[in-house]
Amino acid sequence: MKLKKNILCIGAGYVGAPTMAMIACKCPDYKVTVVDINAARIDAWNSDRLPIYEPGLEEIIGKTRGKNLFFSRDIEEGIRQNDIIFVSVNTPTKTFGTGAGMAADLQYVEKTARQILEYSESSKIVIEKSTLPVKTAQAMERILSSGKGNITFEVLSNPEFMAEGTAISDLEHPDRVLIGSHETPEGLKARARLVDIYARWVAPEKILTTNLWSSELSKLVANAFLAQRVSSINSVSALCEKTDANISEVARAVGLDSRIGAKFLKAGVGFGGSCFKKDILNLVYLCQYYGLPEVADYWESVVKINEYQQDRFIANILGSMFSTLAGKKIGILGFAFKADTGDTRESPAIYITRKLLSEHAHVVISDPKALENAMIDLACEEGQISYVEDPYRAAAGCHALAIMTDWEIYRKLDYRRIYKSMVKPAFIFDGRNIVDHRKCFEIGFNVYPIGKPALCHF
Ligand code: NAD
Ligand code: UGA
Repeated sequence: MKLKKNILCIGAGYVGAPTMAMIACKCPDYKVTVVDINAARIDAWNSDRLPIYEPGLEEIIGKTRGKNLFFSRDIEEGIRQNDIIFVSVNTPTKTFGTGAGMAADLQYVEKTARQILEYSESSKIVIEKSTLPVKTAQAMERILSSGKGNITFEVLSNPEFMAEGTAISDLEHPDRVLIGSHETPEGLKARARLVDIYARWVAPEKILTTNLWSSELSKLVANAFLAQRVSSINSVSALCEKTDANISEVARAVGLDSRIGAKFLKAGVGFGGSCFKKDILNLVYLCQYYGLPEVADYWESVVKINEYQQDRFIANILGSMFSTLAGKKIGILGFAFKADTGDTRESPAIYITRKLLSEHAHVVISDPKALENAMIDLACEEGQISYVEDPYRAAAGCHALAIMTDWEIYRKLDYRRIYKSMVKPAFIFDGRNIVDHRKCFEIGFNVYPIGKPALCHF
């Protein structure tokens, strides 16, 4: 088929690459190119060993790569040849200067805008795919309109709502696609071109159009609401542990109210991932900037409860293992921030491992997909750390297991076999409430779930 239209995406990360693969798959007449400054990442996208693990991703890349999906290092050429440009670069929390630890670090977005301006030889539609503070489009426009000549740039906001681990099905069946634009004739024209792309596979009623600022802000607010639910249920889990109530029963009873809903009510060791914390802190910073300290404090408490939940988990391990972990071997089952991904960014397992090492425990890390990232995360840590992919080998000789990721395989392990290989008394700290607690207790373990009474032999 002749490729009639061209799309570029700058940023070949967890969002850029899967999103473009889906567009390439659904729009076979478009030539979709993904570029990145990280040459090794581009090479990996062009290899048999993709740089990220995501269920269904290999299949969709297999169908499109080399046909109408291309990964390239040539950013300059990419900008020249494409009139529709998605910007999907990273927007981490700022680590320096004003707003350090809270505001979004916009240097990568700004550099991208400057690259687009420098290499453009024709007018472009520039689409914010990255998650950005409200009003960033204004800054983008100012940079893009600082050039000479009659090239024009229309900036759209099209935040991405996919979650890792379910990215492909989220992209294929999104709850909604959000497109923000200026409500000028040029803005509406650009918006219509982007709507046309999504309309190939998304029902019209799910394609939501708003003004630019609503779109930018909605993305931060959606993440804040999701994280707030996790912190809400985690805060209640602490109360359950004091009162013999059971968090799973409470979550079910509360979630069956259709006004509340059942999703995102799983208590655990706290939320991780590259976005929840950074996006809430970004929202908090915006509220402070706009003189709304009460609103800022409200949202900041979501992050504070998340930290509290992780501290509680560690205090529980230490308290129940006779207040000393020195020289004890603790197996960490799962290092990814959630199941079905190898991503460990902001994973609670990083914090918990550091705390265990500071207590002089020997930590054995196991994960089916995240060991490479775990090694990078812990490269600077002092203490005894080993990495063992096989959970049975990891558990052998351990005094305790801490389940940090809700991988399906951990539900189904032969815990009798594991118990036999461990030092007694053996402990399980189930940070995800995924194992059969009663059965493990009967096998002989001392079992510490989240938000449920501990099952202990002494
Ligand atoms: P990522 O770090 O995996 O990918 C970003 C990529 O951009 C990197 O490969 C980096 O090398 C590249 N890059 C940075 N500056 C560049 C430049 N000037 N030119 C070319 N390439 C450049 O990040 P991600 O997880 O894909 O997230 C990207 C954005 O999407 C963030 O704003 C994030 O908040 C948002 N988001 C992420 C998710 C998610 O699940 N990870 C979901 C929705 C939205
Ligand atoms: C989240 C949002 O769900 C996406 O909509 C959004 O696009 C994305 O952030 C983003 O902007 O980056 P993600 O972080 O990939 O997606 O994964 P989630 O499924 O939201 O899980 C986040 C964390 O919350 C994980 O650590 C998970 O284990 C935890 N969680 C989630 C719970 O502890 N309990 C729950 O009930 C749900």
